[in-house]
Amino acid sequence: MRSTVRGVSTYDALPYADYCFARTHPSHLAAMLSLAGYAAPPLDGARVLEIGCARGANLLPMALDLPTATCVGIDPSRSQIDEATQRARDAAITNVRFVEGSIDDEGALDGTFDYVLCHGVYSWVPAAVREATLRRTRALLAPGGVAYVSFNALPGWNALRTLREYLAAHVDGRAPPTLRVAQARGALAVLSRALHDDRSPLGRWTRDELDALADTDDAYLFHEYLADENVAFYLRDFVSAAARSGLRFVCDADPSLAAPTLRDGAPLGVLQSMDFVQHRRFHAAVLVPEETPAGRHDPAAIVRLCLASDETRARASAEDRWMAALFESLDGEGRRPLAFGVLAGRVGAALGLDRAGAMRAAVAHVGALLARVCEGSVTVHARPATWAAEVSTTPMGSPLARSQCAAGDTLTTLRHTRLAVGETERAVLALLDGTRTVDDVARAMGEATQGAVDAARTGEALAWLARNALLVR
Ligand SMILES: C[S@@+](CC[C@H](N)C(=O)[O-])C[C@H]1O[C@@H](n2cnc3c(N)ncnc32)[C@H](O)[C@@H]1O
Repeated sequence: MRSTVRGVSTYDALPYADYCFARTHPSHLAAMLSLAGYAAPPLDGARVLEIGCARGANLLPMALDLPTATCVGIDPSRSQIDEATQRARDAAITNVRFVEGSIDDEGALDGTFDYVLCHGVYSWVPAAVREATLRRTRALLAPGGVAYVSFNALPGWNALRTLREYLAAHVDGRAPPTLRVAQARGALAVLSRALHDDRSPLGRWTRDELDALADTDDAYLFHEYLADENVAFYLRDFVSAAARSGLRFVCDADPSLAAPTLRDGAPLGVLQSMDFVQHRRFHAAVLVPEETPAGRHDPAAIVRLCLASDETRARASAEDRWMAALFESLDGEGRRPLAFGVLAGRVGAALGLDRAGAMRAAVAHVGALLARVCEGSVTVHARPATWAAEVSTTPMGSPLARSQCAAGDTLTTLRHTRLAVGETERAVLALLDGTRTVDDVARAMGEATQGAVDAARTGEALAWLARNALLVR
């Protein structure tokens, strides 16, 4: 079953915007599993399924980043699946396949999967599809596999539901999606004006939410606030529903929400209580088949992982010289994940330690590092960066990003993020097919712009593309 307007999926009428989510990436999920004390499925040769893949914005970069994996996306919206398939063709990504179908259709997919990803679907489909999502996820998971299922959470969504109900009262539910969005924007503006001078805590909170909503794209506003289905759940109820389908909750995919599990092995009751304290509105559950041997949180597992950081400010607040040197080293890598052992060696060298001393110092910091992971200043990955650190003699751009250059200024990086890219950088990227030398690229840019973009500016653009994970190795 799907949400329709006169027989057409509302996602055909108003396709979902392109997002990609680093926390759904198998490299992140495998790292989270390791920290929770579980064996993660190998990334090499992994089979990855994305349920509700929309136009492939999340699965395409994953397939590109995991060339030995087989990736399958399923979605009932024909227009979105057609677009995803075309995008795969345009970027020549051959290890991905998009299937038009519903997850509750038992015959739509073959085989089992090591990673099953389902972001932004569970809360937004009817109850029967929700139940099927968990049941099919369980059935499609290979032994030792892992699933990611996100959902809108209570109690945080209690307050947002009030906004949804306000909009339901001011929007014609039978109108086409684009008209409903226009009516909703008008209604939100009226509410915002009415609250302009309201200094009460609730008035301020509502205004902040309205400001955030004013900045969202039409597809998000429609599918989150105006579409028929959007049901939020308490974590404990979701975990029970997953257990009824034979899935065990391991932790949240967001390290800051997983912190009590990863640091102390906290029971579900503690996590649920924290949701009340923090007014939690969203969860992304990491689940495994119930027969998977239970794991025990293991901070020492961090020595087998790769780390990255994008918070230069974290260095300033480093608690000791080792941590300061670590951030220095991670900064130098420009957010490229590096193996713990490599980092330990670099930090040790910076502090004048011999090999054994470097490793001892690093191992003594696993607890502090886990704390950094949980606060978000360090990210964890199951394997090192796959993209180029520097501009080679014949640089090659990410084929996915290159195929996106003509469509707009927001491109997908090999870091699994979306990034606004300037006109000159896009023009340079479009030339990077791996056959041109840096000089060839500079010459072509000079000719195309009648000298406005010279060799120095082209060099800057190339360096920017390398720093921002847009060049392949
Ligand atoms: C809110 S969008 C999320 C898209 C994407 N996963 C994201 O988070 O950006 C929900 C997606 O789920 C898809 N969907 C709805 N019902 C489904 C079903 N029965 N089986 C699989 N996908 C479904 C919709 O077509 C839509 O593309």
